[in-house]
Amino acid sequence: MNPDSKIFVAGHRGLVGAALMRTLRAGGYQNILIAAHKDLDLTEQSEVEDYFQKSRPDIVIVAAGRVGGILANQSEPDEFIMENCAIALNVIRAAYSIGVRKLLYLGSSCIYPRMAANPIGEEALLTGQLEETNQWYAIAKIAGIKMCQAFRRRHGCDYLTAMPTNLFGPGDRYDAARSHVLPALIARFHAAKQDGIPSVTCWGSGSPRREFLYVDDLARACLLLLENETVEDLFNVGFGSDTTIKELAEMVKQKVGYEGEIDWDESKPDGTPQKLLDSSRIRALGWRPQVSLGQGIELAYRDFLENNPLACAERNGRLALASC
Ligand SMILES: NC(=O)c1ccc[n+]([C@@H]2O[C@H](COP(=O)([O-])OP(=O)(O)OC[C@H]3O[C@@H](n4cnc5c(N)ncnc54)[C@H](OP(=O)(O)O)[C@@H]3O)[C@@H](O)[C@H]2O)c1
Repeated sequence: MNPDSKIFVAGHRGLVGAALMRTLRAGGYQNILIAAHKDLDLTEQSEVEDYFQKSRPDIVIVAAGRVGGILANQSEPDEFIMENCAIALNVIRAAYSIGVRKLLYLGSSCIYPRMAANPIGEEALLTGQLEETNQWYAIAKIAGIKMCQAFRRRHGCDYLTAMPTNLFGPGDRYDAARSHVLPALIARFHAAKQDGIPSVTCWGSGSPRREFLYVDDLARACLLLLENETVEDLFNVGFGSDTTIKELAEMVKQKVGYEGEIDWDESKPDGTPQKLLDSSRIRALGWRPQVSLGQGIELAYRDFLENNPLACAERNGRLALASC
């Protein structure tokens, strides 16, 4: 990749896509192609083929997808599997058809078996049962990885995949239906503080352990992968340590300044007991996260206050805590 490379960022308005745009521009890459969802539906094969034929990118980053927490995964399993499979299929095939030099496909740590030994290395892929609640999304992401590997194996394409842990940061989703655990906590504690609600009820026991990465750190990892030749094609990207959901909730509560209680609804599912990635493969290339969890929460909350309409909205209801 050189400064003039034509880089198509699919999903540029999303949490990951926007961080990629910031990082690419900061790295001197100005020749970036973007298309809004309303103008280019990546689940539509003919639209994607036309777009690639006309725009002819050199590099493609696939950061588009249907993404959500446990609630969304459970209520829309058909859409999670179909849309994510279609996006992977259409984009990877169109990229190959016009000779795209390098492609980076964003997967997720959800691809690994529910009971994989922690920290989870890349070799754990397809060694056991997936987490039931987000299997639809995980299967689609695994299909995307395998498509990249298939083109790599048969045609020698430089198609890479990155598996980020739970991400958060500016531009995250905060609505109850689609948000992941950390932004959901920010939105709920903020609303409870605004409304003087004495307690917030969170799903589960709070005991599962999860790893969180500030999204700009992921974007720097993606840039590193695009700028370098790599032997491997699958890279975990995690912070390197995990925290319990209870500890996370206390940290978010403190950063938001909410002074009420947290109740834990243990009748609700916890999801996988622990999910910590082994990211030594990408660390060996020189990548390290730069933003601590505490700093990241402060930055994300500031962005929520400045840019998210929910910051002022009155909201009630329960919080679905489990994240993929
Ligand atoms: N967020 C996380 O914690 C996390 C963790 C691990 C991996 N990832 C992976 O990172 C990638 C991006 O996630 P994200 O958190 O950035 O998601 P996001 O904020 O929901 O962004 C997804 C983007 O994809 C676009 N998109 C969705 N369907 C599309 C379609 N059919 N055609 C065109 N554009 C479409 C969305 O556009 P609209 O908003 O306009 O629909 C949005 O810009 C996903 O592959 C996800 O699996 C995310």
